[in-house]
Amino acid sequence: MFDLAIKGGWVVDPVRQEIKKQNIYVKDGRIAALGESDANALETRDASGLYVLPGGIDTHCHFRNPGATEKEDFAHGTRAAAVGGITTVLDMPNTNPAVLDGIDVRKKIAYFHDKAYVDYGIWGLSLGDLNLDKLLSMKEAGAAAIKFFWGYAIDTKTHALVYNYTKGKEDVIPPLDDGEVYAIFRQIAANRQILAIHAENSALIRRLTEELDTSKTADDDYAAFLSTRPSLAEELTVATAISMARDTGAHLHILHMTSRRGVELVRRAKADGVSVTAETAPHYLFLSAEDFPAVGPMMKVYPLIKSKDDQAALWAGLLDGTLDFIASDHAPHRIEEKRGSLFKMPSGMCGVETMMPLMLDAVSRGKITLPFVARVLSQRPAEIYGIERKGKLEIGFDADLVLVDMQKTRPIRNKDLHSKQPLTAFDGRSITGWPVSTYLRGRLIAADHEIVGDPGGQPAHCRAAV
Ligand code: NCD
Ligand code: ZN
Repeated sequence: MFDLAIKGGWVVDPVRQEIKKQNIYVKDGRIAALGESDANALETRDASGLYVLPGGIDTHCHFRNPGATEKEDFAHGTRAAAVGGITTVLDMPNTNPAVLDGIDVRKKIAYFHDKAYVDYGIWGLSLGDLNLDKLLSMKEAGAAAIKFFWGYAIDTKTHALVYNYTKGKEDVIPPLDDGEVYAIFRQIAANRQILAIHAENSALIRRLTEELDTSKTADDDYAAFLSTRPSLAEELTVATAISMARDTGAHLHILHMTSRRGVELVRRAKADGVSVTAETAPHYLFLSAEDFPAVGPMMKVYPLIKSKDDQAALWAGLLDGTLDFIASDHAPHRIEEKRGSLFKMPSGMCGVETMMPLMLDAVSRGKITLPFVARVLSQRPAEIYGIERKGKLEIGFDADLVLVDMQKTRPIRNKDLHSKQPLTAFDGRSITGWPVSTYLRGRLIAADHEIVGDPGGQPAHCRAAV
């Protein structure tokens, strides 16, 4: 006898890129059978008229826990995920304390245990020579991959990342030089890990920022701001990173890509056989610099959102597989912090809850298909990070399922978000196509935009084959 039957829904298959009317049967949290035949289960859900997608996987979440829990915490963040159709998240390591060795990874996995509403994995952080000999221990402890904030300085005492480095700043380790970065790549290759980079050239940004005459620049001049953090900043770092990956054989993953130039470099590197993957984020696909007058400073995020032409190149790159998947870069800040000068406020916004709805709306507008959504939100991230039994609706896989109503129209609203600081650049945007039920390993965890039940998330096993 099955535990759960989801009957009569349109099942979305990312692998074959097709949609078929099928029943799904769940036993012990896994998909036990799929097909047209009618069998009984302890519980039956009628999914007629709805689409069934594999649970979304968001590999780029800054849940801020421990540390800046006034901005977000793991319970709020994973509740937002569940409601937004995301059943697995990977938590970014720039917390306080940060995740710098195997002990930190184990601690964080245990610490999140009773707080997680969805399944989760943990990122490790590279600080160059400071923890070069600890990278392998993070893999052994179960970290999904290693993140490197290229061009950021490091606080000498706390080892926290320093976001706006100026020359001569005291008590900081300046951004690493290319020799030290090369040593990270070499170690990552030897350990057979994934190195994911935040790709912005800080020396260029510093120079252009110093040159900007702020006495003549309005606090909300997005074009001036963008001129200090142009596509060239991404291009320079991506080009260097690709060269280092080619030379060392390390697997390079480029986080939140924003520019045509970046996409073109990755396309060429893939054609040349370099071991490189890349992601972009919803705000780069659904916003451009032209939206700033309407949206305002809420859309400040690093790297900056660029031009309409860059946006078009990102879509083309995602559609042809140059960009492997999308991830939200969920990075909330306090409402009060997101006011005042564009130049000074922190960068980032909520994203985990709105990523799938935005993609479903793109399906409604005929831009993409549902199987494509399942590929870039579930299948590809699971394959790249080796997340076991996730990302597809196949027998033996976890019954992480999202029921989607493609007829449902309602706006994204800050006040409906489940994050601790519910702020998005998409407030007020009308969306057609919403997740209406989320199942985690066969258990209903969210329905009609609200959470159902207690935290039941577990550590996901990430074993990337690189
Ligand atoms: C992120 C944050 O706030 O942690 N901010 C952002 O603008 N993306 C850091 C980061 O990923 O760069
Ligand atoms: Zn980043």
